Amino acid sequence: MRKPIVAGNWKMNITSAEAVQLVEELKPLVADVDGVDIVLCPPFSSLEATCKAIRDSNLLLGAQDMFWEESGAYTGEVSARMLLTSGCRYVILGHSERRAYFGETNQTVNKKLNAALGAGLVPIVCVGERQQEREAGITQKIIQDHVTGAFEGISAEQVSGVVIAYEPVWAIGTGLTATPGQAQEVHAFIRQILTGLYNSNWAQQVRIQYGGSIKPENAAVLFGQPDIDGGLVGGASLAAGSFAKIVKGV
Ligand code: PGA
Repeated sequence: MRKPIVAGNWKMNITSAEAVQLVEELKPLVADVDGVDIVLCPPFSSLEATCKAIRDSNLLLGAQDMFWEESGAYTGEVSARMLLTSGCRYVILGHSERRAYFGETNQTVNKKLNAALGAGLVPIVCVGERQQEREAGITQKIIQDHVTGAFEGISAEQVSGVVIAYEPVWAIGTGLTATPGQAQEVHAFIRQILTGLYNSNWAQQVRIQYGGSIKPENAAVLFGQPDIDGGLVGGASLAAGSFAKIVKGV
């Protein structure tokens, strides 16, 4: 039985003071939620404040990215160990915005995945096709490339601890959500790829989140699909009320 996971990706929003306020609003709304991993992913600058604010709650901390080297002359970057020591347990890797604006590739995602697993973080690896790729009928090819590229050299034992987020790029921040059927189809395909790379036993253990314009109104039906194990939520995670409703849709 896979434990559902709902993560809020705050992107480049929320100062430290705003993070504390958001967490204080959210805590009582989800205090009675059991059996779901609820993860908040603030920008780096709000990690420490968020970490303090979630103490003694059922909320967990994640980061939005990291670099694969352990330390050194890499201006602007942070390492897996820095995230761990800031209280993170999770890290988002290969988000489509990082692929689109910051040169992230399947190869760099693979390096980061290795480093994150090596340090003991739980990676959330993002995969997803762009609109023109879906229209060209190559969704499966893109997903196959993203998954096989990211997981190159990752062992079966390691893969069971990884979370995958299927985020169709055309659904991110656009208000367009994949239908439950469209999302389930790709989630099942991702599990099929993992079965081929490892075996069905390992593939069944991997949690696969859906992401892309999740809202309180569509969360429950998406999360009700057999291969959808929760969500990666952008815009709707910035308000405690809507995020709590989404968490409760699991
Ligand atoms: P959205 O973002 O919920 O605002 O569409 C999702 C994401 O990018 O993780």
